[in-house]
Amino acid sequence: MKVLAITILALALATTAFGRILTRCSLAREMLDLGVPKDQLARWTCIALRESAYNTTLIYTNTNGSKDYGIFQINDRWWCQPSDGSFSDNECKIDCVDFLVDDIAPSVTCSQQILRQQGWTAWHTLKFCNGTLPSIDDCFVC
Ligand SMILES: *[C@@H]1O[C@H](CO)[C@@H](O)[C@H](O)[C@H]1NC(C)=O
Ligand SMILES: *[C@@H]1O[C@H](CO)[C@@H](O)[C@H](O)[C@H]1NC(C)=O
Ligand SMILES: *[C@@H]1O[C@H](CO)[C@@H](O)[C@H](O)[C@H]1NC(C)=O
Repeated sequence: MKVLAITILALALATTAFGRILTRCSLAREMLDLGVPKDQLARWTCIALRESAYNTTLIYTNTNGSKDYGIFQINDRWWCQPSDGSFSDNECKIDCVDFLVDDIAPSVTCSQQILRQQGWTAWHTLKFCNGTLPSIDDCFVC
């Protein structure tokens, strides 16, 4: 049992260390494939750059002790359940660690829900990503 626990811990650390880093265009293409409207992609890729530098495994601890998870830095007080059992509204009904996987689908699904419920201002980094942004079309030329 102890050996298993240590193995799982080692695997968890390895996953964290070798997490997936996307690029502006790989993120844009995968989000389009997941059904995100194309006219949102310039903004989402800007937010992901500012929030996580496209790092799917990033966890940031805020000054109030809450943590933000993954490529879109989703907060563990409102949107996902942290593994230490602290209270969360868990609006996206998901464990926070499930945002840290290579597959961006869980982060994208929850981010779309946050956008519907709170709008873009849920992301503090919107201040860098508001107004007119560079076109995303260069990511979709054949
Ligand atoms: C991505 O974030 C993880 C967790 O903070 C970190 O260990 C890793 O070095 C980061 N990757 C890059 C390329 O910065
Ligand atoms: C803690 O700070 C983060 C980042 O500023 C914020 O998103 C979150 O809502 C705050 N949590 C509470 C409970 O106020
Ligand atoms: C973003 O732009 C809109 C429309 O111009 C403006 O109303 C809003 O205050 C801006 N928000 C931020 C965070 O800059």
